[in-house]
Amino acid sequence: MEHVSFGRVYVWQLPVRVYHWVNALCVVALACTGYLIGHPFAIQSGTEAYNNYWFGTVRFIHFLSAFLFFFNFLFRIYWGFAGNMFARWGNFIPHRKEQFTEMAAVLKVDVLLAKIKPLPSIGHNSLAGVTYFISFLAFLFQSITGFGMYAAMSKSALPRLFAWIVPMMGGDFAVRQWHHMMMWFFIIFSIVHVYLVFYHDYVEGRGTISSMAGGWKFIEHEKNK
Ligand code: HEM
Ligand code: HEM
Repeated sequence: MEHVSFGRVYVWQLPVRVYHWVNALCVVALACTGYLIGHPFAIQSGTEAYNNYWFGTVRFIHFLSAFLFFFNFLFRIYWGFAGNMFARWGNFIPHRKEQFTEMAAVLKVDVLLAKIKPLPSIGHNSLAGVTYFISFLAFLFQSITGFGMYAAMSKSALPRLFAWIVPMMGGDFAVRQWHHMMMWFFIIFSIVHVYLVFYHDYVEGRGTISSMAGGWKFIEHEKNK
């Protein structure tokens, strides 16, 4: 029997883990309620129309999750400067040659199903990092267009800050369509993301999935036969 000893590395600090799960829950809630806002049911329940508020509730959940999502996102931007080496922006924005080499290696693993050699990165691999960066840009876009639309129906200061977005983007109809299309980016991202974290958990054997719960990843030290 082969004995392999592992060292453990504390990769994801508590703020990153909390950020991740709050964000994941918010995105699911926003996509479900957003879909309903875009395709409302034509039927009402059996009660009189004045007695129905389900659509209001759907919108309320959308806006509540939107605020949570937005402040959580702002916090993660800050944590990209303040967090440990695995949380920092340098992991998301490729700028070193090794990161591009690793991206090519991960593409071979993910697309061509090549056998994995241990990847240099212990945190996000470079391809995952750049994908998360693209998703952060999409978060920004979704927040700007969302608060832009919300400005028309809110007197609060935060949405009012975004009031100029709607005229700049060509009116409410155009902004809603962009906001709607971006929902599909998140749906596709989430499906591919969950598939890939499961796949990497399997091929790397370093505890990828549980690392987002407990923070630790495991690295092979040495092999004793
Ligand atoms: C991942 C994040 C988000 C997703 C997937 C999402 C999705 C959607 C979708 C699909 C719609 C319906 C658009 C249509 O077809 O008419 C919508 C509407 C809307 N969303 Fe979002 N949204 C997100 C974030 C936000 C944020 C951060 C805000 C900020 C307040 C926001 C505010 C709004 C507003 C104001 C509407 C229009 C509601 C109405 O007129 O009844 N959304 N959203
Ligand atoms: C059951 C569902 C999910 C699981 C098991 C999961 C798991 C993970 C894991 C293990 C990582 C770290 C992977 C690595 O080392 O690169 C990660 C990172 C990440 N995930 Fe998820 N995820 C889920 C859902 C989502 C959803 C719905 C979103 C939002 C669209 C999301 C967005 C992200 C982001 C942005 C990161 C980077 C985190 C950071 O560094 O701040 N995840 N996820």
